[in-house]
Amino acid sequence: MLALWLVVALSVLLHWLYKVNKEFYILAFLARRVKTKNGKPAESIVPVPKGNTIFANCFDYFGKNRVEIFKQIRRMARTAAGESYIQYRLGKATYNVIDARNAEFILNHPNLTTKGFVYNFLHPFLKTGVLTSNECKWHTRRTMLTRTFHFNILNQFQDIFITESLKFVDQFNGLNSFNVWLSDPIAKFTLNSICETAMGVKLDEMAETGDRYRESFYLIDECFVRRVTNPLYWGDFWYHLLAAHGYCAALKMVHDFSSDIIAKRRILLEEELEYRRATQEADDDLCVPRGKPFAMLDTLICAEKDGLIDHSGICEEVDTLMFEGYDSPYIGLTFALLNMSFYGKHQDICYREIQDHIDDDLSNLNVTQLGKLKYLDYFLKETMRLYPSIPLMCRETIQATELFNGLILPKRSQINIHVFDIHRNPKYWDNPNEFHPERFLPENSQDRHTYAFIPFSAGQRNCLGQKYAMQQMKTLMVVVLKKFRILPAMEPQSIIFQMGINLRTKNKMQVKFVRRK
Ligand code: HEM
Repeated sequence: MLALWLVVALSVLLHWLYKVNKEFYILAFLARRVKTKNGKPAESIVPVPKGNTIFANCFDYFGKNRVEIFKQIRRMARTAAGESYIQYRLGKATYNVIDARNAEFILNHPNLTTKGFVYNFLHPFLKTGVLTSNECKWHTRRTMLTRTFHFNILNQFQDIFITESLKFVDQFNGLNSFNVWLSDPIAKFTLNSICETAMGVKLDEMAETGDRYRESFYLIDECFVRRVTNPLYWGDFWYHLLAAHGYCAALKMVHDFSSDIIAKRRILLEEELEYRRATQEADDDLCVPRGKPFAMLDTLICAEKDGLIDHSGICEEVDTLMFEGYDSPYIGLTFALLNMSFYGKHQDICYREIQDHIDDDLSNLNVTQLGKLKYLDYFLKETMRLYPSIPLMCRETIQATELFNGLILPKRSQINIHVFDIHRNPKYWDNPNEFHPERFLPENSQDRHTYAFIPFSAGQRNCLGQKYAMQQMKTLMVVVLKKFRILPAMEPQSIIFQMGINLRTKNKMQVKFVRRK
């Protein structure tokens, strides 16, 4: 009798588990399953690859280093044959987007602007500035910052980009043929540029602090990856106990650095406003300068006077702009110079075009002339296609969301948009791993899906600094190419990517500069 009761109880339990498992993936720590509009399993619409253990994809990255994780994500894209795919990980469904149609739908969906949960791990560093905040706060900050990226303001930055580019080449004065490790000089260039343009503060007298900022930044990046890839560290306790060596000191360093910059700019701006009060008409807006370069930080300080933002708000936006303005162009420029070295034929076309449009004394190196360097534009685009500074963007659903293909993502699903894989998806790119700037000629692009190329993202949360970055990168390329021919000092195959906040390599990148006669 007892045995019969046990069998009945077990059957009921199994039946109940079976029903629960249809709604929730029990072994993936009760991740709610992705449904479909027609009631069929999600597998009938997109691939749902099995994980490495019985716990779905929960422990797929466990024990793997940064290089292996990067490779594994690429392997997944190949296995899914260019189709976006679903994974279940620690209580959450994740939709991995590697095709342009899904990217377009998601990046333009009004309810899909909320950043994914991994951005929470950036909060100790960036708090909730425009990159990491959501909803109302994001909207207010985005509106506040957008006007600082107006093309009139960007035009005023051109002299700074030229001066910094000249400093870049002048550090090699006296050398004619030599190898250069790219990381240090490019990092200095992008950090100096963002500090002077966005913050209105010259870094020259703070050079040593700049070096320490870069070292601290590297450590923060490492800790971020350690945290994202090991669920044990998602909570603060184990993370701080086991994985955050040096993290707090690095955070303090970068925050002190940005606070110093804000303090310096406050003094400079006060002096500037004093001057304007004395010289401008009574009804002029003091926060709209005439003739003088305008720092983006000034907008925030002026908004503070109007009660629209407070000091801690300014700090988080400064940290965000420093991070975005320093790191993403740093990656773009590293790979642009590297590609110049690998592809001499394309470098020659860029050089000839530069010689045709830009005078040797750089007196006409302005935004209009930069606009004429079409081939350089294609070259940089092809570089960002193969090496997107931000290879992954993450979103979270705030409610159950139906996609165009009939999938229904449950609330709190994660959406990973793998820019790296979209940019190499053979559906849109022939021989996707090959470097061909001509892909971006108008006649070669017209039939391609617009969202097959999204280095700056797209839609409401696209990159605010896109024009700034292109202007800055082109200026440095012009100044360098005018002075040097760039030759290879390593093989393209020797680049070893690894997972990071942005695109990272394990090895250092090197080129050879040969001074032009
Ligand atoms: C090659 C250079 C750059 C690339 C490839 C790039 C790319 C991107 C991408 C892909 C995003 C979206 C990130 C996401 O959704 O998670 C983004 C956001 C952003 N970028 Fe850039 N970026 C570059 C340079 C810059 C520069 C120079 C600045 C500022 C001076 C900047 C400011 C921002 C800001 C503020 C956001 C957040 C926008 C928002 O969430 O509303 N970026 N960038």
